[in-house]
Amino acid sequence: MDPERLALTEELLARGRAHDSQESQQSHRYRNLDRSTAELLHLLSTSLKPASAIEVGTSNGYSTIWLADALDAGGRLVSVDNDGGRHHEAVENLAAARLTDAVDLVLADAKQVLTDTPSGSVDLLFLDADRNAYVDYWPELLRVLRPGGLLAVDNCISHAGEVAEFSALVRSTNNVEAVLVPIGAGLLLVTIADPG
Ligand SMILES: C[S@@+](CC[C@H](N)C(=O)[O-])C[C@H]1O[C@@H](n2cnc3c(N)ncnc32)[C@H](O)[C@@H]1O
Repeated sequence: MDPERLALTEELLARGRAHDSQESQQSHRYRNLDRSTAELLHLLSTSLKPASAIEVGTSNGYSTIWLADALDAGGRLVSVDNDGGRHHEAVENLAAARLTDAVDLVLADAKQVLTDTPSGSVDLLFLDADRNAYVDYWPELLRVLRPGGLLAVDNCISHAGEVAEFSALVRSTNNVEAVLVPIGAGLLLVTIADPG
């Protein structure tokens, strides 16, 4: 990442953390992911070279900038959030990061975006939103992710109880491989075996 863009991510994270520490209501916090997790996602995305990626949970665009920065030329990231205020902040922050061309910031419910996504069309999916809905998302996630593609799910250690049913569902699904990486809040990495 170029120094100017990196400085922007550092500023956003510092501002987000400062805001969140004073905010008692969870839904009003930015809840940006840990820097170490952002770096791992960046590395995975750089290696995977996704033509198509989806992020569920944009917030102010902190993780979106990390994901979009790793895209190859021609790669596209759709990032969805259902909070209008956060969406508008993300629009401004992605413009400041000069990443507007590679990213579609969508103000919508995540389930609708997943439902509207063609089967097997997504190379990389990042889930960082309403954990209680992940069980409901699972059939759509399985459908849209191409075999060999990667699903990353944050907060699987920090909020292990909330994702327990989802994790069990993932692990009980045929042809799915999953590993919980103890980085940041705990990142579950999932892939669907490629039938070859
Ligand atoms: C943990 S924050 C995302 C943080 C962001 N990934 C980052 O690291 O900067 C979760 C976001 O998910 C959004 N969200 C929650 N439920 C949603 C839903 N059903 N559809 C779309 N977005 C949702 C919230 O508005 C919130 O901004």
